[in-house]
Amino acid sequence: MKKNFSKKSLSEIYTYFNNKKNEKIIKVIVLNPDISSNAYAGEKIVIENEEFIYRSYKSWVDLAQTFYFKMLTPKLIDENFVELSFLKLEDRTFHSSKEVEEKYGADSLFSKINKNEEPEFFHSFLQALKNSKINKRKRVLNLGVNNAEEFELIRDSFNKEFSDIEFVGIDYCLSAIETAKKKFQNNKNVKFYAHDINTLDELNLGKFDMIISIGTLQSSNLDFNAIFMHIVQNYLEKTGALILGFPNCRWLGGEVIYGAKAPNYSFSEQSLLYKDAFFCKKYLQQKKFRVTLTGKYYTILTATSIRAK
Ligand SMILES: C[S@@+](CC[C@H](N)C(=O)[O-])C[C@H]1O[C@@H](n2cnc3c(N)ncnc32)[C@H](O)[C@@H]1O
Repeated sequence: MKKNFSKKSLSEIYTYFNNKKNEKIIKVIVLNPDISSNAYAGEKIVIENEEFIYRSYKSWVDLAQTFYFKMLTPKLIDENFVELSFLKLEDRTFHSSKEVEEKYGADSLFSKINKNEEPEFFHSFLQALKNSKINKRKRVLNLGVNNAEEFELIRDSFNKEFSDIEFVGIDYCLSAIETAKKKFQNNKNVKFYAHDINTLDELNLGKFDMIISIGTLQSSNLDFNAIFMHIVQNYLEKTGALILGFPNCRWLGGEVIYGAKAPNYSFSEQSLLYKDAFFCKKYLQQKKFRVTLTGKYYTILTATSIRAK
């Protein structure tokens, strides 16, 4: 018997999902969300003198994510009601891998993820690139470049200027660097080094007018504050720009789920993200950078020099 939620409060629905959170599939009947174009969750909708409760597809997807389910294609019962099915997300994830350098390698679970295909990341990162005037930069350093997804997004979005900019990507994961090199084998302006960020100075790279690092500097093998200050002091031009991405999500069963994964908590906990992001913001402001924090699944810190014209 499928549960009919077309008249139920969120409190009842939440309890039902919580009790069924370990089941493989949950099927429920709800009011057709297309019945209204502007109702908010919980609004009463009257059909033939009977009251029902409105919820949008966005609400149902949010609920599904809360309990690690994904919503399947709804089935129309009639014009007023739909059947929704929620499938439990497979909990195989790269987050629990014990590997070190190859945790993010070409054969890893991580390599299946392409952030550039997630609309929210695409938008936030593209905005950060535009705000920091990537098209006018000369030398761009990417720390934790992996298979060079971030360079692909720049190439595809700033095609006209791409070949005039020198790009350098660093990652200690050999197989990811091999993949990156293949992707850009025809671009002489793009170089990759399989190297540890802890010993970056050995490469004598000089200074850059743009530095990007997404999901990397908070790695447990790096001393976040020390490495961040070292990079700003020794690798960033005074008039340069910086984009840092702090993960505020986890990847599970093909989905990106909102909320930072914290080492000692089973639930999403964001203290470390706020602490690190705010440390960088304060430090960069003292060094005369304008700093914004944007983004959802990744908190994106964008710093641009107030000295730059
Ligand atoms: C979470 S992944 C992020 C990769 C890419 N920026 C992205 O967002 O898809 C972190 C990357 O940093 C690299 N990494 C971690 N610690 C490193 C270190 N000490 N030196 C060089 N690379 C490192 C890993 O190999 C991995 O490719």
